[in-house]
Amino acid sequence: MFPKTRLRRLRNNNQIRSMIKEYKLMTNNLVQPLFIKETLKDNEKVPIPSMPGIFQHSINSVIEESHKIAELGIPAIILFGIPKKKDPLGSEAYNPDGIIPRTVRKIKENVGEKLLIACDVCLCEYTDHGHCAPIKGNRILNEKGNELYSKTALEYVKAGADIIAPSGMMDGMVKSIRDSLERNHFEDTIILSYAIKYASSFYGPFRDAVESCFKAGPSDRKTHQIDPSNLKQAFIEAEFDIQEGADILMVKPALPYLDVIKSITDRYNIPVSAYQVSGEYSMIKAAGQNGWIDEELVMMETLLSIRRAGATIILTYFAKKAAEKLN
Ligand code: PBG
Repeated sequence: MFPKTRLRRLRNNNQIRSMIKEYKLMTNNLVQPLFIKETLKDNEKVPIPSMPGIFQHSINSVIEESHKIAELGIPAIILFGIPKKKDPLGSEAYNPDGIIPRTVRKIKENVGEKLLIACDVCLCEYTDHGHCAPIKGNRILNEKGNELYSKTALEYVKAGADIIAPSGMMDGMVKSIRDSLERNHFEDTIILSYAIKYASSFYGPFRDAVESCFKAGPSDRKTHQIDPSNLKQAFIEAEFDIQEGADILMVKPALPYLDVIKSITDRYNIPVSAYQVSGEYSMIKAAGQNGWIDEELVMMETLLSIRRAGATIILTYFAKKAAEKLN
């Protein structure tokens, strides 16, 4: 029998299509990642070759950029620092006058309260071996990592950071940061945990962006990040982080892990964010530049798909561009 309900009726014109949309991407969903390099001066900014359209900024340049981002109505940025020197303990990460605390203070002074500032907390940009925590031989030192993450987070919060985003995937990192923030009376800081971070090959261009010293292959974080063949471990990671005091969970990368975003959203009641990472960005840019796909349409489709999977917060290098299109 020919069905009486035909989807064509619901697709025939713009008005009806717009009336039945279940999911919508909004500027409010977006977070723009920014790279700040300590050795850059004045208004200098340096393009990152593997991430066309994305720059390493000086402090002045990132202030200008932050103004533009706030004007577009994007609610938050996330900062990554490239220090002037790297060492085995990543000590520039927790230097009170390091690149991130200085940048946070300046952005708060100049851009004010319109823009929330999130800070990625990890040591991999700051260590001369490029690992996320101090190492001994081939071993990652989990507890030492946590101690240094809480020191780092505290400096960022003292400087004015609104959101702390630990990304090192050490066991117990959220608890260690939450305890230290509470001891120091920063009860209102949001912890957005990179709880569900896969050992992915999509982080390659990011390592260029932060001039990572990591040598053991482009994507080898297998001792502490989740193996792409596992979903159940995502639940264990999520549960630990919720108990430890995370306010928001993150799934990373985004597009290859939409099923994970969906499962996490269905299962837990706290907000879920997703990180459309550097490799996802660069693939779309490269294919776009070659004329093989329509960059803008693909960008919007991927962001909407991430939203449909359940994430209400999307960290993406396309944030500015998507906001321009949405406004
Ligand atoms: C760790 C960190 C990484 C990214 C965000 N935070 C790199 C890693 O885990 O190796 C990757 C983001 C991207 O690829 O865009 N500080």
